[in-house]
Amino acid sequence: MEQFQVKDKTLAAQGRLQIEWASKHMPVLIQIKTRFNKEKPLKGLTLGACLHVTKETAVLVETLAAGGAKIALCGSNPLSTQDDVAAALAEEGINVFAWRGQNTEEYYQCINKVLDFKPMITLDDGADLVGTLHGKRKEGLKNVKGGTEETTTGVIRLRAMERDGSLKYPIIAVNDAYTKYLFDNRYGTGQSTIDGILRATSVLLAGKNFVVCGYGWCSRGIAMRAQGLGAKVIVTEVIPTKALEAAMNGLRVMPIAEAAEIGDIFVTATGDINVIRKEHMQKMKDGAIIANSGHFNVEISLKDLEALSTSKRTIRPNLEEFTLKDGKKLYLLAEGRLVNLAAAEGHPSEVMDMSFANQALCAEYIAKNSRMTPKVYGVPCDIDENVAELKLKAMGVQIDKLTPEQQKYLSTWEMGTT
Ligand SMILES: NC(=O)c1ccc[n+]([C@@H]2O[C@H](COP(=O)([O-])OP(=O)(O)OC[C@H]3O[C@@H](n4cnc5c(N)ncnc54)[C@H](O)[C@@H]3O)[C@@H](O)[C@H]2O)c1
Repeated sequence: MEQFQVKDKTLAAQGRLQIEWASKHMPVLIQIKTRFNKEKPLKGLTLGACLHVTKETAVLVETLAAGGAKIALCGSNPLSTQDDVAAALAEEGINVFAWRGQNTEEYYQCINKVLDFKPMITLDDGADLVGTLHGKRKEGLKNVKGGTEETTTGVIRLRAMERDGSLKYPIIAVNDAYTKYLFDNRYGTGQSTIDGILRATSVLLAGKNFVVCGYGWCSRGIAMRAQGLGAKVIVTEVIPTKALEAAMNGLRVMPIAEAAEIGDIFVTATGDINVIRKEHMQKMKDGAIIANSGHFNVEISLKDLEALSTSKRTIRPNLEEFTLKDGKKLYLLAEGRLVNLAAAEGHPSEVMDMSFANQALCAEYIAKNSRMTPKVYGVPCDIDENVAELKLKAMGVQIDKLTPEQQKYLSTWEMGTT
């Protein structure tokens, strides 16, 4: 069987340095790797992973390999693979099928290559691997013991599968751990989305009208960081409580149809479809910049943008200029794919340390538990707590312990007003 497919194997030395740099900032995962190396909890298991192939993912893959697993890896987005990292993994003997700039056919070919290895545990980001396994590759389902899912959109898809009875094996929603979404989705996406926008455009954010579509975990982080750089942040939402929270955090909240007229920069992170579409693009100012940080490239209607435009040209990497029929120009970043991974390097290693510690510990949990049934599970509380404890320790942060008196007080009802 073909063992790897990457863009350029000669990039391996540079990729190795990137992985070393990420490892330095991922102390929790490295600690798990050391234990895995001794205990080999994944011995004899083949793992199929569909994840953004970044330097942090490489540290996860090395951790799983240290645990005794055989791994086949493909990218979870056509534009997010770091080719030097993929080359380094290939050189290490990991079965990696990923390169930046895949078309849809190549993207699914790589998923199928991973499935050819007959994985027993799947690690997915967005549920395309799981979707393929439950669709065209059903014959592989019999080998699978369980899986993990990294992101909100993937968990939403899996819950839909569970609801209609089509999910055939247990999957742990890593996204839903506190030590994942509170940090990865919020601070990770917050910082790296700004990073992607700046690398693609190099524009000043201070004083700009910066429209964030959504006020969930990712979009909260994006709004927070844009505000910190002096942008005037406007939020659009569909859920009243989230809109209220944005308003009370001092942000302007309005419908996208209104925001379209005043925004200088637009970022979607909703997990929803066609959030920015024709009628909004028609209202936008000349020079408006549009980006997406949600999982799939469906949040900005690319079909509408193409249909409204008479021409387009690439100004610089990840920055495309669309000229509309009235001469107005709109600028699309990273082809509408998640801008933080396509135009920058994704989340900083420090947050991926926690997300991927959850991934590694959940893979171990699945390996050790044979009683799980086909449904979507939360991350076991002790794993979540353990990741937080290890991270605090690595950061040199100490916290208090409840006294016996406090423990008793917090677990009884008798004592009230004194
Ligand atoms: N770029 C990354 O690296 C990265 C990281 C984590 C998650 N994600 C992805 O980002 C997306 C959002 O994830 P999240 O964890 O923030 O989800 P979330 O559920 O916390 O937030 C999404 C928010 O978008 C709002 N929304 C939905 N439709 C909307 C619309 N039409 N207009 C305005 N608001 C709308 C929802 O009400 C919700 O508040 C998902 O696709 C997720 O998979 C990306």
